[in-house]
Amino acid sequence: MYYSLEKLDTKKKDPIILGIESSCDETAAAVIQGRKILSDEIASSANVQALFGGVVPEIASRAHTDAVAQVVKNAVEKAGITYDDIDGVAVTYGAGLLGALLVGVSFAKAFAYALKKPLIAVDHIRGHLAAAYLDCPTLQPPFITLLASGGHTAILYAKSEEEFEILGATLDDAAGEAFDKVARVLGLPYPGGPHVERCAKEGAANIPMPKMLKGGGGYNFSYSGLKTAVINYCHTKEQKGETFEKADVAASFQSAAVDVLVEKTVEAALEKGVNTITAGGGVAANGYLREELKKACEKKGLKLVLPEKRYCTDNAAMIASEGLIQYRLGNFADLSLTARASIPLSATLKTVQPKPPKKTVGGNRE
Ligand code: KG4
Ligand code: ZN
Repeated sequence: MYYSLEKLDTKKKDPIILGIESSCDETAAAVIQGRKILSDEIASSANVQALFGGVVPEIASRAHTDAVAQVVKNAVEKAGITYDDIDGVAVTYGAGLLGALLVGVSFAKAFAYALKKPLIAVDHIRGHLAAAYLDCPTLQPPFITLLASGGHTAILYAKSEEEFEILGATLDDAAGEAFDKVARVLGLPYPGGPHVERCAKEGAANIPMPKMLKGGGGYNFSYSGLKTAVINYCHTKEQKGETFEKADVAASFQSAAVDVLVEKTVEAALEKGVNTITAGGGVAANGYLREELKKACEKKGLKLVLPEKRYCTDNAAMIASEGLIQYRLGNFADLSLTARASIPLSATLKTVQPKPPKKTVGGNRE
């Protein structure tokens, strides 16, 4: 063991956790103390990536390598702590771009080893789900969570901080993926979601979209039909030499994509008899979704915990937040930790309960 088990106190009241995130094009580091954010730094290569219309993995990895040490240093300095004050180093180990993840994982391993601090492996999606705890430090499960990111869309029942039940999920594309594809069809830049949202503000949701999203299938939903409908609408208009309002297409798509999520999330809370809803993932930064969810929760008397927009998209505070949960469980990684490009949602949601660390195993090489 490279850190001192004698000094490790998982029952400590408000441990200080450093979070590091590098799964896509954002190099981020944040420090939290308990559920309070002390600092939150992000360096993004999105502007460069936008020139290529999407994330180029090698450019992302190089940008992380350039930025990671400085971003971590800034986060620690802005938190007003010393390196020695850190109780645990949490890092995203998956899912994401392998080369990008490896930069964060390698840095975190070296950092944790050099400072003799426990290392915590965080699943990126669990980070998105844990962002809500930072927004509302008194938040306690059970509650319903709407997960809407670039890779996953699901309605989850959070039974405890580490136990989730999937109530429903997309049968094909994720919501964020659909936003990105529609952006492409409309000739809007990468990353698509915020551009579709902006464009939709100028238009009206007056183009009929497939109804299949709303009916049947319990809490499951499908985005591929909606995506195809948008593509067909635009192509047919182009082929006929007719013009169309991009803003109306964006508004109609956004309303169809979001309304089903809001409706089913609220339905799930009522059925499960819980009074709180949370949301996480990049699509939860969507202003229309936020407004609709707020209205629907108010109407049904449900409490809504919606992380600030910057904590819905990729950030390191959410990684530290999930790191805190794992720290309290005593769930630590060793220095053989490596990155994983993909992790199925079922595995993401399953916490492997750790065995208590044994003081004798491997000696205490301090
Ligand atoms: O959660 P996230 O950062 O990525 C994953 O972990 O998968 O989410 C990224 C996704 C992208 O598809 C992006 O277009 C979408 O979230 N997104 C949005 C908005 N901001 C980001 N979608 C709709 N409206 C937004 N304002
Ligand atoms: Zn993400």
